[in-house]
Amino acid sequence: MKVLVTGGAGYIGSVVAEMLLQAGHEVVVFDNLSHGHRQAVPKNGELVVGDLADRGALDRLLGSGAIDAVMHFAALIEAGESMQVPEQFFRNNTANALTLLEAMLAAGVKRFVFSSTAALFGNPDRTPIEEDDPVHPTNAYGESKLLVERMLRWFHQIHGLRYASLRYFNAAGAARPDQGEAHQPETHLVPRILEVALGRAEHVNIFGTDYPTPDGTCVRDYIHVSDLAHAHLLALHALENASENSNPLLYNLGNGQGFSVREVVEVARKVTGHPIRVIESPRRAGDPAVLIASSEKIRRELSWQPMFPDLKSIVESAWQWHRAHPDGYGRD
Ligand code: UFG
Repeated sequence: MKVLVTGGAGYIGSVVAEMLLQAGHEVVVFDNLSHGHRQAVPKNGELVVGDLADRGALDRLLGSGAIDAVMHFAALIEAGESMQVPEQFFRNNTANALTLLEAMLAAGVKRFVFSSTAALFGNPDRTPIEEDDPVHPTNAYGESKLLVERMLRWFHQIHGLRYASLRYFNAAGAARPDQGEAHQPETHLVPRILEVALGRAEHVNIFGTDYPTPDGTCVRDYIHVSDLAHAHLLALHALENASENSNPLLYNLGNGQGFSVREVVEVARKVTGHPIRVIESPRRAGDPAVLIASSEKIRRELSWQPMFPDLKSIVESAWQWHRAHPDGYGRD
């Protein structure tokens, strides 16, 4: 298949683009490089620099008739930031997704894999979280993605769109020592901790120590980026064979095990041999206390099987990347 990968110059999109190419698919990456990196795009993949708000650019790409499916990664992703500038999240994540869907509709492209999020669930009613559990986001980021999921249902029902919505829990780790996480500025826990281990930051803040969790810090379900990426290929193949009436594919993606912020720091201390100084700080707005996935559904239906389910191997792979590339991909 020929797959349009929006955000394919980003952390997760670039890993999926590489995996698609290895599986024999053709890939066109569409990215405005606002957060992504030209060097992260796989060598055999085509890069089109463009913005999702540019309907004309999307029409030119999709109207060629050559695209069989779209994987949509491009989005703002920081829950904390979304509580300061929610308008940017609704513009980039919700409105731009609609523009993309409209362009797909006009071009007759009917397969869509959406990067959704655990943030849909807010403070979940139960743990581990199953796909049909109630959604009530506690941050604008989660809401911006939930609105897309809601649109997708109607596009499916009315226009026969075949789609998969993959609710990522906390993606971490590196697929290869030369392809990893490089956000600018970096706010995610694992890379922030490793910046301290590299001597590039003096300490890492622990945002909140009074949550209703065993050690008072937030608990998250960390999933290796390669395992997450693999789920996209399984979803794509399932969509390839799906009919217009097949049910949408909704899957939670995590390892089913939660680690507190303090536990992640402890694992990183073991992996890096660095003492990693922490400073206990106030809560970050919008953070749910605990997010742990049940991924039984994708295991059962698509035979998804994580290769790196343990936190130590996730942190080790991230450490290899950060040590070899302390400046990430550089400036571009
Ligand atoms: N945290 C700290 N200190 C830091 C950074 C993070 O204590 O310097 C804490 C956060 O408060 C949170 C946990 O570590 O409790 C994880 O935070 P991240 O910023 O690494 O990730 P989030 O859980 O906020 O969000 C990530 C992605 C989202 C995705 C979500 C799914 O950024 O896109 O995981 O759970 F939706």
